[in-house]
Amino acid sequence: MPKRFIVGNWKMHKTISQAEVLIRDILALYKPNPAVELAVAPPYVALQAVAHLLAPTPIGLAAQNVCAKDEGAFTGEVSPFMLKDLGCQYVIIGHSERRHLFGENDQIIHEKIHAALHHGLHPIFCIGERLEERESGQTHSVIQHQLETGLFGLKSQDLSLITIAYEPVWAIGTGRAASTEQATEVHTAIRSFITAHWEMNAGAIRILYGGSVTAENAQSLFQSPEINGALVGKACLNSESFVKIAEIAALD
Ligand code: 13P
Repeated sequence: MPKRFIVGNWKMHKTISQAEVLIRDILALYKPNPAVELAVAPPYVALQAVAHLLAPTPIGLAAQNVCAKDEGAFTGEVSPFMLKDLGCQYVIIGHSERRHLFGENDQIIHEKIHAALHHGLHPIFCIGERLEERESGQTHSVIQHQLETGLFGLKSQDLSLITIAYEPVWAIGTGRAASTEQATEVHTAIRSFITAHWEMNAGAIRILYGGSVTAENAQSLFQSPEINGALVGKACLNSESFVKIAEIAALD
């Protein structure tokens, strides 16, 4: 089983000074444990300050988005090369808020995954169905389509650098997390899809669950061998709950 991975997606929260306070609080509470890997994804503007504080620690740094282009006339965008230069190891790609609020389609997400890999950034590739899709029995076809388009053309060695995050849209920010059974069922389907399309050990791929993860429900989620960690939103903005989730992930 891959090492558990806990990523805090700060979304559009925290100024630079607030980000520094949160990181200092996390560092004061968190005792690094080799059984779990931790990363934070602050907003672009706080990346440099956070990179500086995390440099002597084992905690990883992720960006929340990236442009697929290297450089040029792309106002408002940030390239993979720039994120590498800032010290990011990871980048979240295809988050449902990017897909649904900012119009990112499967093709854009596909290009971003390729660009990130090309520059040595590890994508955290988010997929997930909407409530109406789940209720009409389309969860598996939606997930499969997102995987097919996002991962198209990748080789097995590329895939081994990717973390997949299953984030059902209906569970994000609603306080209504998927049950361990619901998440396990989709994670199993994701692994079967990978086994069917690539010659590799799909068991080695990290598949995180995201959507209303808290210190209260983390233990139940991590009991499933299919759930290799969490992409945490709201609960990562509080040092105590974020560190608690990391500690639960470090337990057997
Ligand atoms: P919440 O944990 O706030 O539901 O957010 C989940 C998420 O979108 C993480 O990327």
